[in-house]
Amino acid sequence: MSSNSTPSSRPVKSVDLHIGDAVPGCRKNDPILIADGVRRTFGGLTAVDVEHVEIPRGAITALIGPNGAGKTTFFNLLTGFDKPDAGSWTFNDKPLAHVPAFRVARMGLIRTFQLTKSLALLSVMDNMKLGATGQIGEYMFRALFPFLWRKQDQQIEAKALELLTRFKLDEKRTDYAASLSGGQRKLLEMARALMSDPTLVMLDEPMAGVNPALTQSLLDHILGLKEQGMTVLFVEHDMHMVRHIADWVIVMAEGRVVAEGDPKTVMQNPAVIDAYLGQHHDSDLGSSDSGHVEAIKELLDDEQ
Ligand SMILES: Nc1ncnc2c1ncn2[C@@H]1O[C@H](COP(=O)(O)OP(=O)(O)OP(=O)(O)O)[C@@H](O)[C@H]1O
Ligand SMILES: [Mg+2]
Repeated sequence: MSSNSTPSSRPVKSVDLHIGDAVPGCRKNDPILIADGVRRTFGGLTAVDVEHVEIPRGAITALIGPNGAGKTTFFNLLTGFDKPDAGSWTFNDKPLAHVPAFRVARMGLIRTFQLTKSLALLSVMDNMKLGATGQIGEYMFRALFPFLWRKQDQQIEAKALELLTRFKLDEKRTDYAASLSGGQRKLLEMARALMSDPTLVMLDEPMAGVNPALTQSLLDHILGLKEQGMTVLFVEHDMHMVRHIADWVIVMAEGRVVAEGDPKTVMQNPAVIDAYLGQHHDSDLGSSDSGHVEAIKELLDDEQ
């Protein structure tokens, strides 16, 4: 795939991703993932109720929405970490409902977690090696006993080192993951995700807890994934980041998709403003989402 952005410069956005009007559930020209009627309830609470959504291939899509909108639950469902009450979805035209997480990962759909899941008492390098066989949990036994998989080991280690170098973590390769900062753990998780050569990378709040000094490199890494031909779907509250790197934005509120479009248009959509400001209105002014509301207001000001 051709390179269409230079890290650290203004990224060139992918255009013509959708067919017809940019309405919730609109069709895409080349969707990599299509979800239909995906619903998940917890007791009386409907956490996810997505009628139809398509994720465009080869682009960076941001999934935004207020706290509790169902973004992480939707990620969990799509990647086999949770089971829906109803619904179906396809990835690369293959049905994924009922497919367990490790198999989803092997098919090329990899996700990272809002709260990082690096194994604190394994070295950075061993965390990377676990990524080679899918995600944490898969083949853990083999991963912990290298003599069982020595054949592949050298190849995997070379690949891990290359990725760690790219993410500036190579000097930490023998350190315990526990010794890394929150931001470095986010980078490790992203680097580990790439060990299995995914085609769709889903990142749940990749910037949360990351030191501002690492922000630019994290953005460049995400843009780099698209340059290498991968599709990215990321959850993020930082609207500046969304505006900067997303080609397409999908907005969730109360489990549903309430808006879709390019970042600029979506931020001016009354449904989006309602979703954020409505929550702000109902919540404690000191709650953690107030920064996000400020960000979206600032963004709206910028765009006018
Ligand atoms: N395991 C669970 N048991 C009960 N309720 C849950 C569970 N997981 C999520 N929920 C509820 O489902 C709703 C959606 O949660 P979810 O974590 O998906 O939201 P989110 O959009 O990722 O929010 P945030 O931006 O804060 O990460 C929330 O009301 C949450 O409390
Ligand atoms: Mg979440």
